[in-house]
Amino acid sequence: MSPPVRGTARGRPSPAPSLGGLLASKEIVVACGPGGVGKTTTAAAAAATAAVRSGGRVLVLTVDPARRLADALGVKGIGNEAVRVPPQAFAAAGVQPKGELWAAMLDTKQSWDDLVRRHAPDARTREQILANPLYRNISARFVQSHDYIAMERLYELHAEGCYDLLVVDTPPSRNALDFLDAPARMADFFSSRLLRWLIVPYRSRLVNVASRPFYQVADRILGSQFLSDIAEFFILFQSMYDGFVTRAKAVERLLADRRTSFLVVSTLEPTPLREAETFVGALEARGLHLGALVLNKVLPPFLLDPAGAQAAEAFVRDHERLAKALAGELPGIPKAQAAQLARVLQTVGRSFSDYRLVAEREQEQRAELSRAPEVLVSVPSVDRDVVDLAGLLALGERLWPR
Ligand SMILES: Nc1ncnc2c1ncn2[C@@H]1O[C@H](COP(=O)(O)OP(=O)(O)O)[C@@H](O)[C@H]1O
Ligand SMILES: [Mg+2]
Repeated sequence: MSPPVRGTARGRPSPAPSLGGLLASKEIVVACGPGGVGKTTTAAAAAATAAVRSGGRVLVLTVDPARRLADALGVKGIGNEAVRVPPQAFAAAGVQPKGELWAAMLDTKQSWDDLVRRHAPDARTREQILANPLYRNISARFVQSHDYIAMERLYELHAEGCYDLLVVDTPPSRNALDFLDAPARMADFFSSRLLRWLIVPYRSRLVNVASRPFYQVADRILGSQFLSDIAEFFILFQSMYDGFVTRAKAVERLLADRRTSFLVVSTLEPTPLREAETFVGALEARGLHLGALVLNKVLPPFLLDPAGAQAAEAFVRDHERLAKALAGELPGIPKAQAAQLARVLQTVGRSFSDYRLVAEREQEQRAELSRAPEVLVSVPSVDRDVVDLAGLLALGERLWPR
């Protein structure tokens, strides 16, 4: 089922492959990749830029924004409620957006509760599940549950059909692939024989549970309260299996839908890059659409300019002569400080050359990418943390050059 499409260009293929084309033609863009590379920042920057340039209603669903970024977007604490980033915030950043930017932060607990409310067969079961201690622990703490619920929430938002574009940040997990598999795993779990086997002794009141060796041991280790919580949890949950399985499969289908695309974010450091490449392969293997690879926090391209290298070499080679000529000419640097100035010039020249070497190495790594997608974007590292709309939009200019 497809929600009403309000945008202008959505659904149409883009003329030239660019991140802008991707954002304009897809309904869901999922930012994923290794930890700490800039997924949350990239998702927010892409969404803000799409709202400014393509228009329509754009929602960024964040998972773990830095506090100041959350403040800048206006998302107050966790809560599934989407808030509109006020037009004044854009005005303060000096732009007039064509569309609207909305932001929401994933609330795992709340989303699980909503899911239970939707699938519980009756009010009594619903309240029992929500009050069950095991359920409360699982829904609030399990990282795996975080993975699933992020995708589930995405499904829900998409089905509501209130937005032209959803840009989704993904949870930090040990393995970036976890969330891709989360819906299938959830479906497997609820249809698993293990689960059915677990609850059998509890369902049948005729069986004396405590007499079974497994439960005797478990009882001693975990305590009987814990065991009965588990049993209650599974028995209650059983009433929702079908709903859950159907739902998890629908979520999985949505990820594979042609309206959905993935944005893999990485830095050019060896470990994240390797992980990102694995991830790109995994997307391919699952038939999911890889929209773009964003190489974040790369060194700026001016480091590769041969003229820069020559200037740096001149600094190193002629530092004494240059210092003599410059001292007395630069404000605050008298002729007597020529020796210090010479050392500064030499050091600057050397570190420029060092940076240049790293930039060359980065360029080689980019060229060696075994699975380069159609859209490959490099975003330089900026001087300060990206914590406001102006910073996001500046990053957006790099993601989606004019
Ligand atoms: N291009 C960039 N230049 C400078 N800092 C960046 C850039 N992209 C992200 N950051 C900073 O890096 C940190 C981690 O980014 P974040 O988006 O939270 O990563 P992730 O979500 O992948 O863990 C944040 O402090 C963010 O401001
Ligand atoms: Mg993050």
